[in-house]
Amino acid sequence: MPLVIAMDGPSGSGKSSASKGVARALGLRYLDTGAMYRAMTWWMLRAGVPVEDAEAVAARAGEPVIESGTDPDAPTIAVDGTDVSAPIRTREVTNAVSAVSAVPRVRERLVALQREIIGAGGIVVEGRDIGTVVAPDAPVKIFLTASEEARAARRARDLAADPGATVTVTRAEQARRDRLDSTRAASPLARAEDAHEIDSTELTLDEVIETVVRLAKDAS
Ligand code: C5P
Repeated sequence: MPLVIAMDGPSGSGKSSASKGVARALGLRYLDTGAMYRAMTWWMLRAGVPVEDAEAVAARAGEPVIESGTDPDAPTIAVDGTDVSAPIRTREVTNAVSAVSAVPRVRERLVALQREIIGAGGIVVEGRDIGTVVAPDAPVKIFLTASEEARAARRARDLAADPGATVTVTRAEQARRDRLDSTRAASPLARAEDAHEIDSTELTLDEVIETVVRLAKDAS
């Protein structure tokens, strides 16, 4: 199978930076599946769908047209032709995304789209269920972790523009999201049995990238 690198892990583990860095280093495409769940959530909120109502979410899940670019230097995400790269990162979307992504109809639709984009391979794919569900045959699977403190600090830095996003608040919101993502019935966040676990707490970004690049070279 052509190269597919599955990068799974909880929020704030450094998946995005590491995935983009690995894609650049190896000349591969890059897909951020979290952005697709965020885009679906942004659309639901804007359409006034009560996101805690799984049936209401399922009933509308087929409507938005979600398009993801795969250039690691300029990843794009659009809904119905509108670029939503910025609005999908708000706390409002972040705090609603776990409810939307737990709905099986949402996952069916986005997983089908993800598999289409993965196509013939040559891609780094980041998410929660890539090694377990989306691309179980991926030759390289990584499960990236970091201590809770390190993850909350990273998230708070990402949200620096939002005055409400202190490390303490971020940590509580992140813990809630991780709990929801890990305990949902449909494709919960889980380490694939054959995934290499990398703890990034004490590693620099370059060290994480080098580790994954080495594993990818060993596998090919
Ligand atoms: O990676 P990111 O934090 O942007 O993901 C946002 C949310 O999307 C996660 O909290 C999770 O609920 C959902 N997600 C998912 N499956 C994936 C990727 C993300 O359920 N493969």
